Amino acid sequence: MKILAVNGSPREDGNTKNMLDTVLSVCKNAGFETEMFQAGGKPVRGCLSCGFCGNHPGQCVNNDWVQEVYDKMKEADAIILGSPTYFADLTAEMKALIDRAGYLSMSEGGTLKRKVGAAVCAVRRAGSIHVLDSIQHFFLIQGMIIPGSTYWNLSLSCVRGDYEKDQEGIATMENLGKNIVWLLEKIKG
Ligand SMILES: Cc1cc2nc3c(=O)[nH]c(=O)nc-3n(C[C@H](O)[C@H](O)[C@H](O)COP(=O)(O)O)c2cc1C
Repeated sequence: MKILAVNGSPREDGNTKNMLDTVLSVCKNAGFETEMFQAGGKPVRGCLSCGFCGNHPGQCVNNDWVQEVYDKMKEADAIILGSPTYFADLTAEMKALIDRAGYLSMSEGGTLKRKVGAAVCAVRRAGSIHVLDSIQHFFLIQGMIIPGSTYWNLSLSCVRGDYEKDQEGIATMENLGKNIVWLLEKIKG
């Protein structure tokens, strides 16, 4: 079984990336195949609302990394989307991915249905619940299944390295990883 994580932070070695690494390492140790895609900082367009995918199911008219990630999402059993908090919201890259992958999935009749989905968020002080809600709303409208952890999936972190000092944040990521493994083993047999 395959687990795909997408880092929506432009910091390739930042808090969100390290949070995702914790979740993936739990899954990898349990025998799952894991992959991280670095999305933050890569040029991307938002959805053009052009209707191209309606006439070409699963294909986006925009020629950037979203198509590649959407194709990886279709192959994955679990998808973990991570974003830092930017003005109490997602990064622009993660928003572009959600809007476009959401329409691509719907254009093919719901390719993400019943996959496992988890959201992860780094936050200095406030706004992370909104970030988690935005990602989880995407999972829910796709008919995906969302596991929990022992706290909401966030770490209190600002500069690089802060996540490693947040013991509760680390435990939350480890427990999220364990719950993803447990859930996948139950539903995939
Ligand atoms: C443009 C911008 C907006 C931000 N807005 C918020 C915010 O609304 N609330 C907050 O607590 N932190 C905010 N932060 C801080 C980041 O969420 C925090 O530094 C986080 O750890 C960055 O994660 P990363 O290392 O994965 O990039 C903001 C940072 C930037 C660059």
